[in-house]
Amino acid sequence: MTEKRQTQEAIPLHPLRLWDAPTRLFHWALPVLLAALWYTGQDLTTLGWHMQLGYALLTLVLFRIAWGFFGSRSARFPAFVTGPGTVARYVGDLARGRMHRSFGHNPLGGWSVLLMLGLLLVQAVTGLFADDEIFTQGPLATLVSGDTRAWLTGIHHANFNLILAVVTVHVVAVVLHRVLKGDDLVRPMITGRKPMPADRGVEEVHFVGMGRALVLLALCAALVWGGISLAP
Ligand code: HEM
Ligand code: HEM
Repeated sequence: MTEKRQTQEAIPLHPLRLWDAPTRLFHWALPVLLAALWYTGQDLTTLGWHMQLGYALLTLVLFRIAWGFFGSRSARFPAFVTGPGTVARYVGDLARGRMHRSFGHNPLGGWSVLLMLGLLLVQAVTGLFADDEIFTQGPLATLVSGDTRAWLTGIHHANFNLILAVVTVHVVAVVLHRVLKGDDLVRPMITGRKPMPADRGVEEVHFVGMGRALVLLALCAALVWGGISLAP
């Protein structure tokens, strides 16, 4: 065993609170809902279910956007969306093989969160106007012209492939963190706690109460319900 390795092992690791329960529940609901949405989007007979699941995912994405302003510190956009200079320095460090063990989203990861939320929002909103030209229309489809409906339905199809591509990159990035940096990001996304070296001076995150999360979730559900009730 090398001296360097011994020194690293000598630094005690403290499991610090990082991701609150709403952020974790939101996250793990995504793969489950996306798989179900893909499955139910394939067949005429399951499109009714598809639309219900789509409303659920739209509600969750709106909730996560609200949580980005009113949630715990690690979930707030201003805490992890950095300027281009910071991202460029982080990428430069990566290219030179210098890797940091981050507590929360790293500068590149922060922007990928925005990208994923944006793509999910586009997917759910275009679904509201989608039309399979047989039996099923999204609830707002008749508010726009036939051409616009066809265009939005095309985006609904193409954007799903983009989501699959970005999620693949996301999962590969998580695996590379583990393999190249020895940084396990998955366990903190499950347990909420991330072990950090005691000498880093990192402060654990104060979690906002669940009451606030439930109120925000109810407001987002009401917004979606109100929106689809606009249907003629
Ligand atoms: C459909 C699939 C997925 C989508 C759309 C997705 C999306 C996201 C989003 C939006 C975040 C940011 C979380 C937040 O701040 O609210 C995130 C974080 C994260 N995801 Fe996923 N994810 C997916 C699948 C997975 C899978 C399968 C894994 C496990 C390998 C995973 C591991 C993680 C981890 C570890 C983080 C935290 C990253 C960090 O520490 O900065 N994700 N994901
Ligand atoms: C983020 C949430 C959503 C995802 C991931 C999603 C995904 C999909 C997928 C993969 C398909 C099949 C596309 C294909 O066969 O190439 C589809 C079709 C469809 N989706 Fe969604 N969808 C979502 C939300 C919604 C919502 C909210 C609605 C309406 C309330 C909706 C309405 C439809 C309709 C009507 C079709 C059939 C379109 C056609 O056959 O041309 N979707 N969706």
